[in-house]
Amino acid sequence: MTTLATGQFERIAEIAMQRWGLNLTDRKRQLVSNRLSKFLRKSRFENITEYLEHLESEADDDDMLVFFDLLSTNVTSFFRERQHFDYLEREFYTPLARGDVTKPGRRIRIWSAACSTGPEPYSLAMHAKEHLPDLDSWDFKVLATDLSNSAIEEARIAMYPKKMLENLDGALVRKHFRRGTGSNEGMVKIAPHIFKLVTVRRLNLMDPWPFRGPFDVIFCRNVMIYFDQPTRARLVSRMYDLLGPGGILAVGSAETLSGLNSKFRTVQPSVYVK
Ligand SMILES: C[S@@+](CC[C@H](N)C(=O)[O-])C[C@H]1O[C@@H](n2cnc3c(N)ncnc32)[C@H](O)[C@@H]1O
Repeated sequence: MTTLATGQFERIAEIAMQRWGLNLTDRKRQLVSNRLSKFLRKSRFENITEYLEHLESEADDDDMLVFFDLLSTNVTSFFRERQHFDYLEREFYTPLARGDVTKPGRRIRIWSAACSTGPEPYSLAMHAKEHLPDLDSWDFKVLATDLSNSAIEEARIAMYPKKMLENLDGALVRKHFRRGTGSNEGMVKIAPHIFKLVTVRRLNLMDPWPFRGPFDVIFCRNVMIYFDQPTRARLVSRMYDLLGPGGILAVGSAETLSGLNSKFRTVQPSVYVK
């Protein structure tokens, strides 16, 4: 396993920053080297020099997305960082269910920005089903976006290893998942009544967003950690504009808006309200 030379890593870091806002610090050099070596062994490129030249001159969008997949991390899980779901139950669904708060057209829009392979948006849909009685009478939708082609594809297929459900409540699993059979033995599929609530799209968070909102809730978790401070500040300000009044933004529990000069009000660690 060879390590990328400093100049090569700098070229990679520059592409990653310009295209996707990713801040590849030197600490990532070994990880990126390992992933690239593995990729190059199976590719048509002789070596890293040839691959970098290809990326910098003739690569099309699909080539670039393959490269993005080599740099990014898709780790995710169902009901990850439970405290965000608890907050939504307490402060969003309960007042709606009680009728203390009303919404014009009974419209609810949630955005899972950087949804990875899908557990986050499907968890959001299951959670709404659990905590908003009569969800079918609401105009409820979860938009799930990510830049990674492979992640988006998995999110659309919505089939996961059974192992990913280990920490979930059995009753919830029985209601919202279907057991895979035959060649899908050992897998579970998201049940149709949850699947239909989620729309999966590919989106680079750095690009213009082809939707106007307003959103009620945005989950943008465990992605800003890869961006530098000015990129985070721009992203958070755009999300602020996309939320309706009282809209909720959750970021990863290892992330924070502090130092970004945002207009959000902090309501609990990593949860913010417009
Ligand atoms: C660690 S996963 C987080 C998944 C999920 N939000 C969670 O917390 O479990 C980070 C995701 O961010 C996505 N990502 C990174 N940079 C992005 C960008 N510029 N635009 C859109 N998605 C991006 C990656 O493809 C990856 O799926």
